[in-house]
Amino acid sequence: MKEISVKYLTTSVEKTVWLGQQLGIQLISGDIIALIGDLGGGKTWFTKGVAMGLEIDPNNIVSPTFTIVNEYRGKQQIFHIDLYRLKNKTEILDLDLEDYFSREGLIVIEWADRWPGELPEKKIQVGLKIIDEHTREIEFSGDHHRPQEIIVALKKKVGQGLKQFL
Ligand SMILES: Nc1ncnc2c1ncn2[C@@H]1O[C@H](COP(=O)(O)OP(=O)(O)OP(=O)(O)O)[C@@H](O)[C@H]1O
Ligand SMILES: [Mg+2]
Repeated sequence: MKEISVKYLTTSVEKTVWLGQQLGIQLISGDIIALIGDLGGGKTWFTKGVAMGLEIDPNNIVSPTFTIVNEYRGKQQIFHIDLYRLKNKTEILDLDLEDYFSREGLIVIEWADRWPGELPEKKIQVGLKIIDEHTREIEFSGDHHRPQEIIVALKKKVGQGLKQFL
């Protein structure tokens, strides 16, 4: 399937959270959000927004840098995974993280590019890039019908993108 994408620029933390929430309200069990990008790019803030979209208090969301996986319960269960601290691929395999793909709920993965091998093809990729102190470029992409559906809905709600400022 052809890859489709949309890109927005957020000019504050609040706008990144809001954008995450617009994604979160659409999500259903089985969805996989692969967050990729700069250190301090806003992956954890974006995840707080996703959680808000599922009626979870964003104050409960903390980066699972040391625990590797945090679980939150809202309208859906969220498994929030952070691969930053993992040294090598064997460590990821040892933790049986792929078991989460068959659980009821959805998965948000920070540093998803450190996943060994391929993530399931229905993932929606979210790239976060630091533009300047308060600006982040956030790009949604995917090449499966599920991310395509999500991106079409996001464009309707948020705008056509292509570096649209929020
Ligand atoms: N538009 C913005 N969106 C999100 N965060 C922003 C924005 N502008 C500035 N920031 C700052 O960038 C930082 C983002 O932190 P956050 O923990 O969300 O990043 P991260 O990508 O999860 O980092 P890590 O790579 O350490 O996991 C915060 O300090 C936040 O205040
Ligand atoms: Mg983080």
